[in-house]
Amino acid sequence: MKIIRTTPAMADWSRRLHREGVTIGFVPTMGALHEGHRALIRAARLACDAVVVSIFVNPTQFGPTEDLSNYPRQLRLDQALCRKEGVDAIFAPTVKTMYPVGAQTVVTVPGIARRWEGEARPHHFQGVATVVTKLLSLVQPDKTWFGQKDYQQAALVQQLVKDLNLPGHPIIHPTVREADGLALSSRNVYLSSSERQAAPVLSRALQAGIAAIRAGERNAARIQRHMLRVAATEPLATVEYLAVCDPVTLEPLSQLNRQAVLLGAMRIGRVRLLDNMLTSFR
Ligand code: PAJ
Repeated sequence: MKIIRTTPAMADWSRRLHREGVTIGFVPTMGALHEGHRALIRAARLACDAVVVSIFVNPTQFGPTEDLSNYPRQLRLDQALCRKEGVDAIFAPTVKTMYPVGAQTVVTVPGIARRWEGEARPHHFQGVATVVTKLLSLVQPDKTWFGQKDYQQAALVQQLVKDLNLPGHPIIHPTVREADGLALSSRNVYLSSSERQAAPVLSRALQAGIAAIRAGERNAARIQRHMLRVAATEPLATVEYLAVCDPVTLEPLSQLNRQAVLLGAMRIGRVRLLDNMLTSFR
């Protein structure tokens, strides 16, 4: 397994593979790899001849008061996981390599970034869109895997790739969960044991929304009330939003007549948890 540290070396590696007719699958990450990342890597491994995993804690997607300096960094463990999963190359650039002095271009996807996580975290999605554009340009993948866990991010990347004709054909992989429903996240390690016990309330709230829709409810405000009622049963949880949205534009719906996505964010202690569920109905 090759460890690539610089942008020219990354671009060269992919150019060489493409010349040989090898297909490249790409999984962009910020490291601290867990079973959620592993599922994306396995999907890439099955679909493509060669797999690249990027490990880069992208500073531009963190706000000034967010956890950039505390973000878990464990390159050795991540390398071991990647090696075990048959990854061909890890792209682990330094911040200076990705953002040399004088860099000024940014990428924004204003419509999709406007609400939800975009509202809670100004500039977050500009950082994501910029780094994903750079990574896709460097890696030139045939296919790229993103997790449904970060639904708004995945929707934003799909729009970005379409609008800018970027390579990489994004594929959204279902969310990997703990047995009690909690979506796996690098941030779960910050939950105390009582907070960890409280955390599955987010997936239970979304599940209550899905159940209401399955039972025939089509009014978004009433679906939202079902979700809020479940959330309110957990005193440690503070809801930031529980919303019923269009799965492509992420605009809130008032009435459901096609597929919808239920988006949720909660604060438990100092940890922000995100989750979502997609629904379809006849
Ligand atoms: P990171 O949080 O490391 O996540 C990397 C990828 O793993 C994302 O596509 C994310 O949605 C996916 N993922 C995380 N938890 C998951 C779970 N429980 N089930 C399935 N997939 C899961 O997201 C980022 O990094 C960054 O914003 C990045 C796209 C790399 C840009 O910097």
